[in-house]
Amino acid sequence: MNFQKTLAEKAHEIDEKIKQSLFEAEEERKIDPMLDEAMQYSLFIGGKRLRPILMESVYAVYALPDQKIVPFLAAIECIHAFSLVHDDLPCMDNDSIRRGKSTLWKKYGEGMALLCGDALMVYAIEVILNQSEEIPPQTVKKALSVLVNKSGVWGMIGGQALDIRYTNSLVDEKALLEMYQKKSSALLEAAMLIGAILGQAKDEDLKIWENIARKIGLAFQIQDDVLDVIGKEEILGKDIGSDEKNQKQTFVALFGLDKAKQTVQRLSEEALQSLNQYFGKQEFLENLILYLLERQA
Ligand code: IPE
Ligand code: IPE
Ligand code: MG
Ligand code: MG
Ligand code: MG
Repeated sequence: MNFQKTLAEKAHEIDEKIKQSLFEAEEERKIDPMLDEAMQYSLFIGGKRLRPILMESVYAVYALPDQKIVPFLAAIECIHAFSLVHDDLPCMDNDSIRRGKSTLWKKYGEGMALLCGDALMVYAIEVILNQSEEIPPQTVKKALSVLVNKSGVWGMIGGQALDIRYTNSLVDEKALLEMYQKKSSALLEAAMLIGAILGQAKDEDLKIWENIARKIGLAFQIQDDVLDVIGKEEILGKDIGSDEKNQKQTFVALFGLDKAKQTVQRLSEEALQSLNQYFGKQEFLENLILYLLERQA
């Protein structure tokens, strides 16, 4: 079976798990219907589910089937959806297409998009706090603290702030990669670290996972920049040329397409090498890294 099909099946399985976690428990409580619809739209209209897939794959390395990681799968996808909803707003990237459909603000208005993003961010924490009874409290605390650290000022939100500050100005490679690490890699790092933490990994393993995740995360954002230039809108499901339109500092703008592609390749090879060195043969993760290197969406 080809790997893309395997991934699509995994994404579907994750959808089923997170739907249960996010909305079944809420049947008794009434959410504002438009906010509810907007949250469902932001979460369930497409998406590769890369972060929960990475979380599950790292958790699987530790083979602890008795624990329930579902609330964390749901939470990371909520934070990711929140980041996309706000990223597309007119005051940020001003984009019209996301996951092959209208961006949330285009469909529901800017106010609802702002609130939907806010709601998803807090809901992520609520789901973890309400649904993690079967995980030791110290483990929940450690995993939750990684999630908030990598999402907030030290991570994704901090990176989005750098993205705004660097717009239309000259930056060097170090500054650009710091921005990428925060705005995009941080959530991938959180996903893999949380998988390891829930698997009761030792602290020395966490450092290694964080390094592997960072290489995957930086490669992921550089490939995102490449696709913003050479991707096909109908495959990518996003506006092409968004970075140029917004005069964004990107790896492609700074160093050109060739160096960008070579760097994605090099970072992916380094991630594969560390994975094999420290964790032996991990077929699924290896295939995933190779797939991301070639991805068109
Ligand atoms: C897009 O992330 C945002 C970036 C960090 C570049 P994904 O490419 O994982 O988005 P979905 O979830 O598959 O739509
Ligand atoms: C943003 O990077 C990463 C986020 C934190 C959402 P981009 O602005 O390049 O992401 P896309 O291309 O809109 O998905
Ligand atoms: Mg952006
Ligand atoms: Mg964007
Ligand atoms: Mg982009």
